[in-house]
Amino acid sequence: MEGGNNVKKAIAAGMILTFVVAVAVVLAQPDIIDLGYLAKIYQPAKFNHKAHATAYKDCKTCHHEWDGKGQPKKCSSCHKAQAGGNTPDMKTVFHTQCKGCHTKEKQAGKNAPVGCNDCHAKKQ
Ligand code: HEC
Ligand code: HEC
Ligand code: HEC
Ligand code: HEC
Repeated sequence: MEGGNNVKKAIAAGMILTFVVAVAVVLAQPDIIDLGYLAKIYQPAKFNHKAHATAYKDCKTCHHEWDGKGQPKKCSSCHKAQAGGNTPDMKTVFHTQCKGCHTKEKQAGKNAPVGCNDCHAKKQ
């Protein structure tokens, strides 16, 4: 019976650890992100990360490379101004992901913006 208790203790410890890790990931999320890595013709795009992550609970919808452990990496740690190897450039992937989803969701009746100036105002 002693062995059974140890197994129970190990499972309980594992559950507490999973809970602590999940809370840490949720707490460290940014609310609003200024996506201004390129910002030449346009001003930085204000991205409400909190609202998007609440609507799309599966982080991998956007963090496609995430293994589900720890913090997801920034897109900009791989996608740069210029494409490199088989990694497409930043402007392409943000447009593919942001505009791609907005176009689909707009067709489904949601209020997702698709106009150029809705995401980033033109610089004067
Ligand atoms: C759903 C949001 C969204 C829409 C709609 C959108 N973009 Fe973007 N665009 C972005 C994001 C995000 C970036 C990356 C911004 C950064 O990091 O500087 C970007 C970057 C750019 C850049 C490079 C940065 C610069 O200032 O030169 C250009 C050019 C651009 N977009 C043009 C357009 C045009 C033209 C349209 C309309 C046909 C458009 N975008 C629509 C989100 C959007
Ligand atoms: C709609 C797309 C989308 C969803 C859904 C999403 N994220 Fe993000 N997340 C982004 C973008 C875009 C960035 C900015 C990346 C950059 O600056 O290069 C970001 C940045 C982050 C950062 C900051 C990384 C850093 O080092 O500064 C964390 C942490 C993060 N996301 C966690 C999460 C978690 C956890 C979830 C799920 C609960 C989630 N995200 C869901 C798109 C998304
Ligand atoms: C660890 C590196 C890495 C990170 C971090 C990363 N990507 Fe990628 N991404 C890649 C590579 C490599 C490819 C090309 C191969 C593939 O499709 O997986 C790619 C492909 C893509 C594509 C498909 C492009 C196309 O034309 O089909 C999109 C969209 C994209 N990434 C968006 C993002 C966004 C947005 C983020 C942040 C939320 C992000 N990526 C984070 C490495 C990364
Ligand atoms: C998986 C789908 C999806 C992705 C990916 C996505 N969005 Fe959105 N976004 C939406 C939807 C749906 C709405 C409308 C929400 C509502 O009903 O008001 C929205 C709303 C917005 C709005 C207007 C409301 C606000 O939050 O300010 C902006 C700006 C915006 N998104 C920018 C972006 C940018 C920039 C990216 C890429 C970094 C992005 N979105 C990626 C689905 C998405």
